[in-house]
Amino acid sequence: MKQLAIATQNKHKIIELERMLKPLGYDVLTLYDFPELKPIVEDGDTYEQNALIKARTLSDHAGVDAIADDSGLDVFALDGAPGVHSARYAGEDVTYDDNNRLLLQNMTGVADRRARFVTTICLYQRGAEPRYFTGHLDGEIATRYKGTNGFGFDPIFRLPDGRHLAELAMDEKNAISHRAKALRKLIDYLHPV
Ligand code: IMP
Repeated sequence: MKQLAIATQNKHKIIELERMLKPLGYDVLTLYDFPELKPIVEDGDTYEQNALIKARTLSDHAGVDAIADDSGLDVFALDGAPGVHSARYAGEDVTYDDNNRLLLQNMTGVADRRARFVTTICLYQRGAEPRYFTGHLDGEIATRYKGTNGFGFDPIFRLPDGRHLAELAMDEKNAISHRAKALRKLIDYLHPV
């Protein structure tokens, strides 16, 4: 059975990826299998670079092929910010609410509110060029919070149908999300082994 390591400790991502990769014949390893590996510094300028850093570091350490993802929110009027810095938009050790409040503040009076979530997955197969799979979710930055589901910027992200992302049930979000779209592209690419 072919091994594939995924560079995450996020239990939700692990469950989702295992569910899709096992039927294709992959034996899935995670960062939990390599506790000796030091935290990977994500200092790239793009989603691709960060995903590559994580996948390559894990692959080199584990000696098997690896995948990693990187996500964020690009706001058009802010030249793509918060982008790759989404998790730390308001600073180190901040809450999702700190980030949301800063974003709403920076968008005060801004008419063009277009934004999109982005996920890029890097597939790092040893001896091959890295491959990238990207998914988007388009919407707008709202002017107020709505909904209690999800995480991150979900309460202030409005979909084209008017609902905020935090109003969607988890299954509904997982069917349309940037992450799901990138993951489907990866799964379509990977052949049963
Ligand atoms: P990660 O690369 O998946 O850890 O995502 C980085 C950051 O992007 C998160 O900490 C959130 O701030 C933001 N983000 C990514 N995906 C989502 C989402 O689906 N909803 C809301 N925020 C998200």
